[in-house]
Amino acid sequence: MPTDNETASFLDIVRSGVSDGSFLKITLGKYRGKGEARKCVVALVMLKEQPNLRFVTSVGTQVVTENEHPDAAIERLSGMIGADYYSAVLFTSREDIALAYSKKRIGRITRGKPTLTQAPSTEHNRQKSYLVDPKAAYLAHLDVTHADGQVKPSMYAKFRQVCRFVEILDQLLAGSQLRDATQPRIVDIGSGKGYLTFALHEHFAKRLGRSPVTLGIEANRVLVEKCNAIAALCNIAGLTFEAGRAEKQTSDALDILIALHACDTATDDAIHLGITSKAAMIICAPCCQHEIAPQLETRATPLAGLLKYGLLKQRQADLFTDACRGLLLEAHGYEVRMIEFVSSEHTSKNLMIAAVRSSAVDRKAAAEQYEQLAEIAGFQHQRLKTALGD
Ligand SMILES: C[S@@+](CC[C@H](N)C(=O)[O-])C[C@H]1O[C@@H](n2cnc3c(N)ncnc32)[C@H](O)[C@@H]1O
Repeated sequence: MPTDNETASFLDIVRSGVSDGSFLKITLGKYRGKGEARKCVVALVMLKEQPNLRFVTSVGTQVVTENEHPDAAIERLSGMIGADYYSAVLFTSREDIALAYSKKRIGRITRGKPTLTQAPSTEHNRQKSYLVDPKAAYLAHLDVTHADGQVKPSMYAKFRQVCRFVEILDQLLAGSQLRDATQPRIVDIGSGKGYLTFALHEHFAKRLGRSPVTLGIEANRVLVEKCNAIAALCNIAGLTFEAGRAEKQTSDALDILIALHACDTATDDAIHLGITSKAAMIICAPCCQHEIAPQLETRATPLAGLLKYGLLKQRQADLFTDACRGLLLEAHGYEVRMIEFVSSEHTSKNLMIAAVRSSAVDRKAAAEQYEQLAEIAGFQHQRLKTALGD
C-alpha cells in the first residue's frame, strides 16, 4: 500500500527525532491486519554503540522483540502505519505526535505537549558514566554532540573511542610517576580534529583539577586553526595547536606523549620524540604501516609459506613493526602494554601501545629480543631504531 502524505510526514518526524536525539518511543494500536489483535511499541536502543529501533510486539501472551537499523525500521513502519495499525503515537522530548486513521483510512496528525521527558529504560540503554562529559561545549563545537549534550548518532563510535582512550590513560596515570603532577605537559602528535587532545586536556583540568599544558601538533593547518578557534571559544586555558610535522619536532620538556592513528612512520617519530624527551608516558595507536612489509624476506626463510600471501604478509609486517616498537620502548626504560582499545568490529586499527617509564624494565633483554626478531623477519631498517641511533 503506498504511503499517504500524513504517514510520510509522520515518518519524517520519526527520522529527524532519531537523528537529533529527541525520539523517545512510538506506540502502535488499533490493529486492523491479519490474525490476532496485537500492539507494538518501538523504542530506541543502543547496540554496539549504534542506535537501533526495537520493535516489541505483543500478540496474546506472546511478545516478539526485533531490532532494526533506523533506516530499515522506518521502511518497516511505513508498511505498518495506516495498513495494519490505524493508530500511531510518537513520543519525543519536545511533543507528542499522534496519527489516527478513520475507517476510510484517512489519516490525521495531531500534536500535543510531551508526555515523556526521558526514554523508557531498556537493557541496552543503561546510562554509562563516562569520564568524558558529553555536555562539554568543545564536543558540540567538534560536531560530536548536539547543543544539549546528546551524542550525534553518527558520532557514537568516535565518542566511545575518546571515552575509552581517556579511561585507559586515567588508569595508567594512577600507576605512573605523574600520579600527582600538578601541571602535566602533554603533546599530541597528529592531533587531527582534536577530539582526543581536547578530551584529555579537559580530563586533567576539569576532572582531576590540574593545570595541564597541552600542545597538539598537526600537519594540516586548517585543522590547527579550527582547533585553536574552538579552544578560544570555549575559554580553555593551556591548550594550543601548532602546524608542524612529527619528524621535525625536537625533544622538549614533556610528560605525556600521545599519537593516535598518526600515519605510517609518524608513529615512530612520535615515539622517538617521547623517548628523547624522557616523557613519563607514551601512548600511541599505530595507523597504516608501509615500512617493514617490503623488507620482509620471501625466500630462504622459514616464514616463506606465510609471507607469500600478500594480505598475511602485511599483517605479519604490522605485528613485527609494533612488537619491535614495543621492544625499543622497553630497551629505553619503558614498561609496555599492548591493548586492544576499541572493539575490532569498529576498526582494525585498534591496537594501543601504552608505555610508562619505569626503572624495573630489563632493557638489555628487550634490546636482544629486538635483534632476534628483526633477524627472523629479515628487515634491516626501522625508522624508530635508526632515529634512536641504537
Ligand atoms: C587519522 S588522523 C588521527 C587524528 C587524531 N589523532 C585522532 O585520533 O582523532 C591522522 C592525523 O595525523 C596527521 N599527520 C599525518 N602525518 C603527520 C606528520 N608526519 N606530522 C604531523 N601530523 C601528521 C594527519 O594530517 C591527520 O590529521
